[in-house]
Amino acid sequence: MKKLIMILLGALLMLSACSGNKPEEEAPQPAPQEEVTEQTEDPSILVVYFSRTGEQYTVGVIDHGNTAIMAEMIAEETGADLFEVLPEDDHYPMTYDELTETARSEQSENARPAYAGEVPDLTQYDVIFLGAPVWWGDWPMIMYTFFEENAAVLSEKTLVPFSTHEGSGLSGFDRKLSKAIDGATILEGLAIRGNDCQNRQDSVRESVKEWISGLTY
Ligand SMILES: Cc1cc2nc3c(=O)[nH]c(=O)nc-3n(C[C@H](O)[C@H](O)[C@H](O)COP(=O)(O)O)c2cc1C
Repeated sequence: MKKLIMILLGALLMLSACSGNKPEEEAPQPAPQEEVTEQTEDPSILVVYFSRTGEQYTVGVIDHGNTAIMAEMIAEETGADLFEVLPEDDHYPMTYDELTETARSEQSENARPAYAGEVPDLTQYDVIFLGAPVWWGDWPMIMYTFFEENAAVLSEKTLVPFSTHEGSGLSGFDRKLSKAIDGATILEGLAIRGNDCQNRQDSVRESVKEWISGLTY
């Protein structure tokens, strides 16, 4: 009898070894998430600028304007189009002292000198950089002509001011722009020394890159 019980126990153990210990069924895994790539289109950008060649402060006679150099760098870094504001009747002297006199008269008369050429269709741009040399602590008056003639479209845009100067920095370009063009979104501007535009272009480019990378548009 004892032997029979032992046989039965042995058989039971063998059965449990075969049928038991089934690996637990694997929990269903969630389907792999499809990678979501954000479809953000690059903004369409225009750089509008005014700049002079001829004799300029601290740099002597130049054939490539300081602000033009900065504007071109911005365009290269952002893939923007460029539009230069050129005077319709180029009455600006090529000697520094005379130019300062002409500019001073325009400012005191609150003049609106006409500019030449056809402005590109501004409606197609999301962001417009606007730059000029500081003249007597302000935008050159020809830039106010541009602002006022295009205010309706500019007021719906994101605007980014920039200046070249020889000590006055941005000279309130941002504040004055916001006053001239009511309703526009105005981002942080950048001021660069005119002399650096001629003589320290690597460092100017670094400043321009750093500034652009901090802009959220
Ligand atoms: C008419 C005139 C007025 C200027 N007024 C100022 C000024 O108020 N503050 C300043 O820092 N630089 C002043 N500058 C220096 C210019 O802003 C600087 O040389 C600028 O880089 C010139 O740029 P552009 O070559 O693009 O014309 C003046 C220059 C001119 C010709």
